[in-house]
Amino acid sequence: MARALLLENPHTNADPVLAAAGVEVVRHPGAMDEDELIKALDGVDILGIRSTTHVTERVLAAHPQLLTIGAFCIGTNQIDLRAAARRGVAVFNAPFSNTRSVVELALGEIIALTRRLTVRDKALHDGVWDKSAAGSHEVRGRTLGIVGYGNIGTQLSVVAEALGLRVVFYDVAEKLALGNARRMSSLTELLNVADIVTLHVDGRAGNAGMFGREQFEQMKHGAIFLNLSRGFLVDYAVLREKILDGSLAGAAVDVFPTEPKRTGDPFDSELRGLPNVILTPHVGGSTQEAQENIGQFVSGKLTKYLRSGATDLSVNLPRLSLPPSDAARYRIAFVHRNTPGVLALVNQTFAEYGANIDGQILGTLGEIGYVVTDIGSELPREAVEAVRQMEDTLRLRVMVRPNPED
Ligand SMILES: NC(=O)c1ccc[n+]([C@@H]2O[C@H](COP(=O)([O-])OP(=O)(O)OC[C@H]3O[C@@H](n4cnc5c(N)ncnc54)[C@H](O)[C@@H]3O)[C@@H](O)[C@H]2O)c1
Repeated sequence: MARALLLENPHTNADPVLAAAGVEVVRHPGAMDEDELIKALDGVDILGIRSTTHVTERVLAAHPQLLTIGAFCIGTNQIDLRAAARRGVAVFNAPFSNTRSVVELALGEIIALTRRLTVRDKALHDGVWDKSAAGSHEVRGRTLGIVGYGNIGTQLSVVAEALGLRVVFYDVAEKLALGNARRMSSLTELLNVADIVTLHVDGRAGNAGMFGREQFEQMKHGAIFLNLSRGFLVDYAVLREKILDGSLAGAAVDVFPTEPKRTGDPFDSELRGLPNVILTPHVGGSTQEAQENIGQFVSGKLTKYLRSGATDLSVNLPRLSLPPSDAARYRIAFVHRNTPGVLALVNQTFAEYGANIDGQILGTLGEIGYVVTDIGSELPREAVEAVRQMEDTLRLRVMVRPNPED
């Protein structure tokens, strides 16, 4: 029986999906550091994490039995994806399941900050009746600058236009402008025109520190800044300075360079206590709806990979799935170095041992090749061992009677 270890509380609807595939599920509520994780992974085939636990090369090297990792979130920077691929460990995430939740939080914050709701709210809680329109604006007609026009950026673009915001965006990749949104040719151009700047770029290494003094100083006086993407992108010391000297009218920050591991852990930041600054503990994607979607989506990908070798939407292995065949007696999932002639050698080896190939599919992704092969005849153990011993083999897994449902 396969075993799954789920950390950081993914939605419980993942458990029945895993159980239905014959997987025993063990849960641990918090994140784990490297040493804790290495200890906890003994005998585990499937690891489920969210954004806080890091899966390093050292963790992977300590557990060659680990088959697959599910990131029950969007980002996968917390996992060493190349090291996982080199060990044939498939990694899955949920790229779209919480997009809407992030968009709704960003929009709520844009309205709250533009209206200075945080300031009015605090004054009244402090017993001060401060009825004034000073500094309060409608969002209608203001310019929203979206940096990173991906899943979240595009959806925000569409919903924001429905509220009457004018949308401009900047993306390093060519992107189709939706609705009336206008593409800016540089980040500077966007910063010069936007009343509200919101970051929705991905966490690629080159984006570290992409938003610092130079970028804040290119923003319009009195503009609003949001970061719901990644904490290490932004110099928050400069943001603090710009809020305090009045250059910026407000900010909303959901992500921080270092974040506490567990609920209840202490938190500190230079942004604490600033006026018209909304701080949230990385909850942009944390709604019941998103968690449900993610639990269902990722557990489905993990069990499909376990039962049929399908890697659709894997973030580190070639994406493929071989349709089920009634005649298949064995299915072989073979991850290897992507070098010329490997597939020919594998097929020749099977033929030499009399194993009849019923169906086969190959995909490659950079240095990694992945082949799924159905065998409709006997599969001599020697054939499997011969392929396993090949120089370019990274991982070989044999499934007996692959489930035709998969
Ligand atoms: N706060 C949360 O809880 C939460 C939840 C979900 C996602 N996120 C984060 O939100 C971000 C966006 O998620 P997504 O699903 O839309 O990602 P995505 O990959 O679909 O989109 C990212 C876009 O940013 C662009 N980009 C990358 N670097 C850029 C740069 N330097 N300048 C301009 N454009 C750049 C890419 O070309 C891409 O179009 C990610 O960082 C993700 O981790 C946060």
